[in-house]
Amino acid sequence: MKGVILHGGYGTKLRPLTHTGPKQLIPVANKPISQYVLEDLRNSNIREIAIILGGIHPEKVKEHYENGQKLGVKIQYIHQDEPKGIAHAVSLCEEHVNNEPFIVYLGDNLIKGGIKHFVRKFENSTYDTMILLCKVKKPQQFGVAKFDENGKLIQLIEKPKEPPSNYALTGIYFFKPVIFQMIKQLKPSWRGELEITEAIQLLLENGYKVGYEIVQGWWKDTGTPEDILEANRLVLDELKTEIRGKIENDTSIQGRVTTGKNSIIKENALIRGPAIIGENTTIEPNVYIGPYTSIGNNCTIKKGEIENSIIMDNCTINVNDRITDSLIAPHSKIISNNNTPHGKKFIIGERTHIEL
Ligand code: DAU
Repeated sequence: MKGVILHGGYGTKLRPLTHTGPKQLIPVANKPISQYVLEDLRNSNIREIAIILGGIHPEKVKEHYENGQKLGVKIQYIHQDEPKGIAHAVSLCEEHVNNEPFIVYLGDNLIKGGIKHFVRKFENSTYDTMILLCKVKKPQQFGVAKFDENGKLIQLIEKPKEPPSNYALTGIYFFKPVIFQMIKQLKPSWRGELEITEAIQLLLENGYKVGYEIVQGWWKDTGTPEDILEANRLVLDELKTEIRGKIENDTSIQGRVTTGKNSIIKENALIRGPAIIGENTTIEPNVYIGPYTSIGNNCTIKKGEIENSIIMDNCTINVNDRITDSLIAPHSKIISNNNTPHGKKFIIGERTHIEL
């Protein structure tokens, strides 16, 4: 079986973070979201993987994954000129797939426990396509499945105003090459995209076998800042303690905490897990790092309190305040300036979100 990871799209809902890189490279517990996807495919023994690149700094994806060797896979990069839809992106992979069954995995989807057991199910089935469904509270935001009274899948509808069920299509699809024939028949949808949901609907209408499995644990589509913070919490909930850096005396480490090589937690700092601290990062005395916080590599936390947040690589934080529910992009500095008591100074990018 071959693998396909979608790494394109505009990432509009995640601006300004996506001005400087694709959303799939945003780190959750200090690892890019799409790397969880790639490792899930590799752990399911799928080693030939095509990554579909979009227009937002695709070179950063290539820099991170190179040819895949370091992660035990072989990567082929395919460029999608514009985000014309998931089905359009899939259509670009026909040569890579080379008439084999294949998995399409959206590069911003995370699933508890991975897909290994689903891969086995598909391989041992006679399905032409298999989809993974997950029960959600707001099905209107997804592709949604409709069933008959016997639980048979009868229809798939993309973002319906009146959803026929609470079962959303996750962004993990198991295909046989017949899907390419269906994609060729598609017309752009109301949002101007070739919808993979409609291609699978065509399979149903033409009598092909479409199976489904229900995801029992959590599944997360990380389309918004709130989704990313939730994904960070879900992944950190499964974190194991691992201390690779230095912890000075009189430091308090509570709960599950991971620290990276050459990191240092100085005296009287309090780290309350689950939390992860990257490599070469310094946590100065009296700093408080609270639950569900990920701090990247090469950061300095000089002063302040941080909780339920992602601080990406190369940041400096030196504040008299508590930072919560925040996503801080790489190379950012947040500093309390005691010389200007009543003013706040900002040098910020387009579409920045600040709550004071
Ligand atoms: O996450 C699950 C949902 O994904 C499904 O329930 C929907 O049926 C499916 O249409 C899709 O909906 P979204 O509206 O969330 O898709 P989005 O536009 O966010 O794109 C999903 C991923 O695919 C994202 O990582 C970007 C990438 N992508 C998207 C398009 C449209 C591409 O690489 N190329 C594209 O042309």
